[in-house]
Amino acid sequence: MTKILVVYASTYGNTKAMAEEVVKGVKSVPSTEVKLTKAEEATAEDFTSCDGMLVGSPVHMGSPDWRVKKMIDDVCSGLWMKDKLVGKVGGVFVTGSGFGSAGGGCEVTLLALLNNFAELGLVIIPLPKNTPGYNVGGLQWGPYARSAGVNMEQTGVASDSLKAAFHHGANVARFAQLIQGKELFAKGTK
Ligand SMILES: Cc1cc2nc3c(=O)[nH]c(=O)nc-3n(C[C@H](O)[C@H](O)[C@H](O)COP(=O)(O)O)c2cc1C
Repeated sequence: MTKILVVYASTYGNTKAMAEEVVKGVKSVPSTEVKLTKAEEATAEDFTSCDGMLVGSPVHMGSPDWRVKKMIDDVCSGLWMKDKLVGKVGGVFVTGSGFGSAGGGCEVTLLALLNNFAELGLVIIPLPKNTPGYNVGGLQWGPYARSAGVNMEQTGVASDSLKAAFHHGANVARFAQLIQGKELFAKGTK
């Protein structure tokens, strides 16, 4: 069984909707087990016991939500110290509603999270442009959704963004399955 952790922060439900679709994508891959949890509730055990993880965040002031950053600083950094997450598989997703058709800061927020993933030694899964839903809800870094229209009216998450989120979940699960239990990175020697 391949274990996948899906973690998110959400105040208005948009990132939660993406997370739930990511979970459906994970479940579409046979022999996977998925845990969905809020960033505020994620534990070190959640991270160490999974084979792959997906982290989702709303864009706040052009960067990840503080709850996600707190989780990374409080929970993941201790695991970083001990190299506990090296070689696990990771993917990220975001929602934003700021000005500009991509949402103000979706791309840099995806990249900020991927930077944290690289620090942790995760194998990062991108989102290829031939993924269903990509034209509306995809960037090479991961799925995103803009949750407001051109006049900043709340629209919720587009079905194409949900589609891209579904496939990102499935992709991460498949790669986690492929390399599960294998130690592929060199270990430091002094
Ligand atoms: C404090 C705060 C700051 C925000 N800053 C941005 C921003 O810089 N860019 C953006 O695109 N959206 C921004 N938003 C909008 C949210 O990212 C957007 O509504 C998102 O879909 C909310 O996700 P949620 O429904 O999961 O809470 C901000 C929202 C809040 C509450």
